[in-house]
Amino acid sequence: MGFPARFIAFEGGEGAGKSTQARRLVAALAARGIPAVLTREPGGTPGAEAIRALVLGGEGEGWGARAEALLFAAARADHVERLIRPALAAGTWVVCDRFVDSSRAYQGGGGGLDDADILALHRIGSEGLLPDRTLLIEIAPEIAAQRLILRDAGVDDRIGGRAAPYHARVAAGFARLAEAEPSRFARIDGNGSTDTTHSAILAALGEWL
Ligand code: TYD
Repeated sequence: MGFPARFIAFEGGEGAGKSTQARRLVAALAARGIPAVLTREPGGTPGAEAIRALVLGGEGEGWGARAEALLFAAARADHVERLIRPALAAGTWVVCDRFVDSSRAYQGGGGGLDDADILALHRIGSEGLLPDRTLLIEIAPEIAAQRLILRDAGVDDRIGGRAAPYHARVAAGFARLAEAEPSRFARIDGNGSTDTTHSAILAALGEWL
């Protein structure tokens, strides 16, 4: 066996550039001969994508923070069991656009749930699986707002469309998580160009490349 396959997660607020950077990372890994699968949360498997439609789509007032946390944990359980663990066991790296720290920052920081409760759901659903490295992409709120206008043309999902104070609590939640676990998290400045951010990401994974 060569080196173990790594599980890499991208985290950050809306408009941080996670999806673009996740795609670039998978391409950079492929160029080094490292097989990697790109996936996202909520979603990644048919069951989890069905839950995604339930949580993020639809009309009306939507879900409360507790129901939301349970649905995200259920989607994650399916994703971990059916896609993430089998890929890692087969020697394929997994690059995931959002993972459990999104539940901790959004339903916890944003929605006011206890971090210990979210981690308990994660233990039940996914045996507490954590990424080997979590890349937290941080950007200024004004830059996020500009990028979202371009990307979404004013159309938000249920969570993305929440008011600015909710998103400020989410950003603060991510920052606290990164401070608490400095060896798992790498904080990446996402305010610059796509190329600059991509280079910072490769540097943050340098020990494995
Ligand atoms: P997505 O379209 O992936 O958002 P973005 O492109 O901004 O990353 O939608 C995911 C939304 O779901 C986003 O608003 C964050 C939210 N979310 C949670 O609230 N909790 C979670 O556990 C996850 C995975 C996502």
